[in-house]
Amino acid sequence: MSLIRLSCALGLLCFAAATAATPVRGADKSPPPAPAAMHERLDQISQDPASLAEAVQRGQKAASVCRHCHGTGGNSVMPDVPNLASQNAAYLLEQMNKFVSGQRKSSAFMEGLIKALPPEDRIDIALYLSRQPVARKPVDAGAQSAAGKQMYDKLCVSCHGANGSGSRKIPRLAGQQGEYVIDSLQRYRSGSGERIDPRMAAYTRNLNDAQIRQLAAYLASLE
Ligand code: HEC
Ligand code: HEC
Repeated sequence: MSLIRLSCALGLLCFAAATAATPVRGADKSPPPAPAAMHERLDQISQDPASLAEAVQRGQKAASVCRHCHGTGGNSVMPDVPNLASQNAAYLLEQMNKFVSGQRKSSAFMEGLIKALPPEDRIDIALYLSRQPVARKPVDAGAQSAAGKQMYDKLCVSCHGANGSGSRKIPRLAGQQGEYVIDSLQRYRSGSGERIDPRMAAYTRNLNDAQIRQLAAYLASLE
């Protein structure tokens, strides 16, 4: 039992303990922190090596259930399940918060799992996954990926970066699972509600399915 919970349960020092706590690990009955406060906390932890090491350890524990789909250390082996290893922490946190708020839709099971995570676990998990190494996979760098590179360099590089590593809330795409990338691009394009983002809607509007497959093949080939 944490010190805060213990002192609150005893009715002693509750206020003092809660105010001394971090904004995210507040007293049990406080409303959930706003996403902006969670991102601030994530940045704070990232800048302090000792807090970061502790958060990564907690995150590894909290993420054990995620392994069944996202693979060991977030290296997915299922084509339609995204890799989370080395993904940008702020992006991971933002997407988890989007599942919780309903701005992003997925299977009920996956949404339920994320909704059940306390805010501090979401921060720890994002930090843990962002620091996991990517497992190399053999890729087929054929004609599809050459055509994909041309499009990527013209349309996507300004945000996602030359090596597909993104930054902060812009996702890393390098080595991402092919079917997942195809599904995601089609969803942004259709505006059907699973994934809504005005920037990605604009950049996928004029892509046909063949071009989307070429882009996915190129992204899978990036390390
Ligand atoms: C039953 C399989 C399953 C489990 C278990 C699961 N996920 Fe997922 N997860 C998925 C699938 C499938 C997607 C792709 C969702 C989509 O876009 O429709 C996904 C997407 C995500 C994304 C978005 C990734 C991106 O690149 O945008 C995050 C973040 C995520 N999961 C985190 C987690 C965490 C954290 C856990 C454990 C608490 C977890 N998932 C457990 C199947 C699962
Ligand atoms: C103006 C900046 C910008 C440009 C240009 C851009 N993207 Fe994105 N992209 C984003 C942002 C921001 C997100 C996260 C949106 C969200 O929250 O769903 C994203 C998400 C994605 C995702 C989902 C990744 C995941 O892990 O789920 C894919 C795939 C993607 N972009 C591919 C592309 C491709 C391919 C292009 C070029 C055709 C492109 N993007 C151009 C900003 C951009």
